[in-house]
Amino acid sequence: MSEWWRDAVFYQVYVRSFADSDGDGVGDLPGITAKLDYLRELAVDAIWLTPFYPSPQADHGYDVADYVGVEPLFGTLDDFDELIASAHARDIRVVVDIVPNHSSSQHPWFTGPDRERRYVTVGGDDLPNNWPSNWGGPAWTYDDERGHWFLHLFAPEQPDLDWNRQLVRNDFREILRFWLDRGVDGFRIDVAHGLVKKASLENEPEPFPTNRFSSDWRTAIDQPEVHDVYRDWRRLIDEYDGDRVFVGEVVFSDQRRVAPYLRTDELHLAFNFSLVFQPWDADAIRESIGESLRELPIVTWVFENHDVTRIVTRFGGERQARAAALLLLALPGPAFMYQGQELGLEEVDLPDDVRQDPIFLRTEGQRKGRDGCRVPIPWTRELQANAWLPQPASWSEKSVAAQTGRDGSFLELYRAALSLRPSGSFAWRESQPGTLAFDRDELTCIVHFGDERMVDGEVVLASDADQTAVWVRR
Ligand code: BGC
Ligand code: MG
Repeated sequence: MSEWWRDAVFYQVYVRSFADSDGDGVGDLPGITAKLDYLRELAVDAIWLTPFYPSPQADHGYDVADYVGVEPLFGTLDDFDELIASAHARDIRVVVDIVPNHSSSQHPWFTGPDRERRYVTVGGDDLPNNWPSNWGGPAWTYDDERGHWFLHLFAPEQPDLDWNRQLVRNDFREILRFWLDRGVDGFRIDVAHGLVKKASLENEPEPFPTNRFSSDWRTAIDQPEVHDVYRDWRRLIDEYDGDRVFVGEVVFSDQRRVAPYLRTDELHLAFNFSLVFQPWDADAIRESIGESLRELPIVTWVFENHDVTRIVTRFGGERQARAAALLLLALPGPAFMYQGQELGLEEVDLPDDVRQDPIFLRTEGQRKGRDGCRVPIPWTRELQANAWLPQPASWSEKSVAAQTGRDGSFLELYRAALSLRPSGSFAWRESQPGTLAFDRDELTCIVHFGDERMVDGEVVLASDADQTAVWVRR
């Protein structure tokens, strides 16, 4: 087995919203198993499952109350075993999400007598420091009963574990082994750059970074000791056969801060979010791709996930999102796609009264949050009346059933692109303004951001009749 992940296409399954087998309006593990043939036909190499562990669902699973079980809403451990076996039988690898920065406030580690041995807690009357929560308000909540502050970079229902403690490190080694022994092919690590806090808990120097990457902080995240954790995890995963992989969620605006996480004895992969923050503009995207390739030993491309606005909406329409598909799948290295990206689903403008994202709730609607990209996948023309977030009526025609076999549909474009995906070395081509072009092996990928066209050669695949993006054989 030879580092399959180096050029794999990973498909992100947001478990709650993928496929619902029991009709309760919420996706579940047996639902995923039932759709594996769909994923095999799409020809993705691996799936990443968002957290399906027992959880009060304060952050839809990113608040874990038991790291070695399955939330009853999503199924059972037997369902999980069956999912893994069925995926492997179809040559699809399975990566699970691990959430080590924080647990649920309902985890026995937090509710039990041992809390202070595992979490970041501080006594005293005053706020321990000036750290803000990512989602508004201070990162500290006072627990009257216990008489201490506890830290939460996210919601108060997600208290931060103290990674300066060996006990916490030992617990997670066991958790990793539990899932590795069950056959998972790797882990996506939530908030990977955040685990270790500066032990002094000193103030973040003000003014706070104001760019959109709220994690450009220097005290609460990205401490040198976090690398010891990943060196330890790497040794642990290397004991297992099957070429298993770590993918870190490492969020910085400066890609140079991501590179240390990718040292050969640390994580195999880390998401490259630079494309998530670019407008649909040739220069911006060329610059972002160029910088990423320069600064990182391996670049893991992403346009969409369960935390960001879908590209049909972000890039201003289906034409752009179709072109982005050809761009994504022509870039060198691993690529992640998010469920529904292959259907061209747009961000749904949901009414406030159905929104559930803690970002929306905690900012009292100031920030709309992420529900709009989490609406359940439409499988059939007949939409699901009780879906946990309502599907727009127009999604009937965007459903898998409606798009399958339909000439020129989004889904058929993705299928074609996945089957023709180029490999080999990468080289930019000279191109006119408003156009971006590069070579991979015998294919050239050309993306036109404006009206001018520069297509020369045999078109193997076009994103649309206007040839907004094309793959050309030289
Ligand atoms: C996940 C989010 C989650 C947050 C807290 C992330 O970056 O992707 O969905 O809300 O971590 O766990
Ligand atoms: Mg269900």
